[in-house]
Amino acid sequence: MGLELALLPRLQRDLTEPEPIPEAGIARACELMRSGRLFRYGEMGADQNDVAVLEQEFAALIARRYCVAVNSGGAALCLALKVLDVQPGEPVLVNGFTLAPVPGAILHAGARPVLVEIGADYVIDCDDLRRKARASGARVLLLSHMRGHIADMDAVMGACEELGLVLVEDCAHALCATWNGRAIGTFGEAAAFSAQTYKHLNAGEGGFLVLDDAHRAARAILHSGSYMLHEQHLSAPASDVIAGWEERTPNFSMRMTALAAALLRPQLRDLPRRVARWNAIHDRIASAMHALSMFACRPVRRGSNTPRHPSSSRCSASRMARLPQCSIAVPPAACRSNGSAPAGSVASPAHRATGAMPASRGRCRRPTPSWPVSATSAHLSR
Ligand SMILES: Cc1ncc(COP(=O)(O)O)c(C=O)c1O
Repeated sequence: MGLELALLPRLQRDLTEPEPIPEAGIARACELMRSGRLFRYGEMGADQNDVAVLEQEFAALIARRYCVAVNSGGAALCLALKVLDVQPGEPVLVNGFTLAPVPGAILHAGARPVLVEIGADYVIDCDDLRRKARASGARVLLLSHMRGHIADMDAVMGACEELGLVLVEDCAHALCATWNGRAIGTFGEAAAFSAQTYKHLNAGEGGFLVLDDAHRAARAILHSGSYMLHEQHLSAPASDVIAGWEERTPNFSMRMTALAAALLRPQLRDLPRRVARWNAIHDRIASAMHALSMFACRPVRRGSNTPRHPSSSRCSASRMARLPQCSIAVPPAACRSNGSAPAGSVASPAHRATGAMPASRGRCRRPTPSWPVSATSAHLSR
């Protein structure tokens, strides 16, 4: 094995290299910086409406009634739970194959994460969901479409109905994915997206909460930190609905800046090209890795180079494999052998059993420091 590893070619490229911001975004950002007006609201009326227009555009893209732009995907998840009235200490179910900010958002909302196992196909195990829901008494499922691996949403929705669970979707890796032609992000009561640099939309930091319920949207706007300026929102319920919540909704200061919105708006228009490009990159890396017998790459059940389910479209799927710092490829077994999980990730027994890598950002604590190969792909269904 050692020799085989040593013979592998060295990685010459930074696979996490992001795309540049479109020129239109740079130009608008410069304009805003020259004006100094980077806050999304203006005391005397909207000075600019980049964030408000972006919210309208994003809601239309996902086909949801309302969108609230915030400063991170994690903030959007936290807000989703807050507007669902999740209480301190309340159990919230979450698939164990996700990234640390997802259970982090549950804790941020004051609740308690209850990890649900995944199957060998990386997606939530609905039998374990039933077990954990009954044992914990949870009423909310936070489903993370991790790395674009889309669960059988018919089965998930059926289980939610049977168990009386309210669904929140974490779509940080699933922008533009579909299930049976229906956009991911439209199944849950609310859905959260991220605009952190390594996502399809890059503002450095940023996030979106989308939902359809007017009262929950009103509360999310107020929680995000709209002060008395919520009338400047364009993707919003009637102002009397918002006013009805104003006196009893705390401000959590989670606003998106005008600068982030300026960078993001032209990227929305660029999504079809970006998604096609990421899919092509994914396919190229995936086929090369399949050729290497030493990699313990499992076929991706849905949403990758070998879709096994006709209902899903590909989006943001990744290869789960790791390379040590000396640029020699190491199969996931290297992490599995001592039961260690990458730092900053969430591991459940299922990860160890299936060899799934629970997250791809952190480093494997032993036996060697490593970083992931995370080739992302996406497929625009519109
Ligand atoms: C699966 C997943 N969900 C949620 C998040 C949180 O997004 P953000 O970093 O914008 O808070 C991330 C971040 O990378 C993520 O990978």
